[in-house]
Amino acid sequence: MDTTPLGRTGESVSELCLGPMYFGSTVDRETSFGLLDRYYDAGGRFLDTANIYATWVEGYDDPESEPLVGEWLDERGVREEMTVATKLGFGYRDVPTSLDPDLVAQEIDRSLDRLGTDTIDLLYAHVDDPDTPQTDVMGAFGEAVDAGKVRHLGASNFPAWRVARANRIAEERGLPRFECVQPRFSYLIPDRDADFGGQLATTDELVDYCEQADLTLLPYSPTLQGCYGRDDRPVPEGYARSENRVKMRAIEDIADRKGVNGNTVALAWLLDRDQPTVPVLGVSTLEQVEQNLAATDISFSGAERRRLNGVESYGFDSWDRRG
Ligand SMILES: NC(=O)c1ccc[n+]([C@@H]2O[C@H](COP(=O)([O-])OP(=O)(O)OC[C@H]3O[C@@H](n4cnc5c(N)ncnc54)[C@H](OP(=O)(O)O)[C@@H]3O)[C@@H](O)[C@H]2O)c1
Repeated sequence: MDTTPLGRTGESVSELCLGPMYFGSTVDRETSFGLLDRYYDAGGRFLDTANIYATWVEGYDDPESEPLVGEWLDERGVREEMTVATKLGFGYRDVPTSLDPDLVAQEIDRSLDRLGTDTIDLLYAHVDDPDTPQTDVMGAFGEAVDAGKVRHLGASNFPAWRVARANRIAEERGLPRFECVQPRFSYLIPDRDADFGGQLATTDELVDYCEQADLTLLPYSPTLQGCYGRDDRPVPEGYARSENRVKMRAIEDIADRKGVNGNTVALAWLLDRDQPTVPVLGVSTLEQVEQNLAATDISFSGAERRRLNGVESYGFDSWDRRG
């Protein structure tokens, strides 16, 4: 598997990240280990979890994803090879949704403990916190980096201007900055007024800021629950734009011609973008892993690329620049 630069860190990460969000809860331990093994065997070295995964699932009040990842890293003896990302900021159990410095420090220690590691390679603010001054937030993250508990920082579900502002504060104060963003981002573009709760879809501004300031984009929910390639998963609510019908036809035609699953094409489209873009995969079966890993083998002809990008695309990653 190829790698992609992570912001301005000078480091690179696997071009496809694996998100074990439901591993240890709806995806049982044995299946989860099998999925992690398959991703690893394909060369994948980048995992994306969070302190809250998946405490919203009935019967799973406690975080199960981080401990499962920790167990797998330990049993396979691969901790040093893997880039491990986790997140904090959303509420769970008695923890409120907040980036208050005390909570940041507390949740970092809890994640380190659950993951069974000394360092988090990439820590995301999972959500923006308008009530805590950004100077305090960046200061708290900076302290964790100074203490060696965290190596790099990212922002998830932030409006573009808040990432830019936080990074300006970091620059002015000599603190580490956000090197990447993790928005909801897939080939289909949601309705302008679509509401995904705390999840923020990417925007032209976010894409543009990342390009200008060398931040890596990590799209989550990249297959929109697999809707590009299975009949039992309609296009999700919030994506009912007429452009999306045209886009779905483009995916289906190209998938048919290449003899692959539509989800493979949708992921390949993300990988094909000009700016560093690392989709975060959600999977629950080995077949899905195979189909999604196959995205790394897909290349588009000029005509296919023009068709995929001719409808509407984000930011300045437009088809006419790439011909
Ligand atoms: N930062 C955030 O706020 C945030 C939010 C959401 C997710 N994430 C991260 O992003 C990762 C992925 O998110 P997601 O689960 O929402 O991604 P997704 O790509 O929208 O959905 C993944 C689900 O789609 C189905 N699927 C995926 N590939 C398929 C294929 N080739 N064929 C058929 N079905 C397929 C499977 O559903 P079934 O399992 O039902 O079969 C799979 O569990 C998470 O694990 C997490 O790490 C981050």
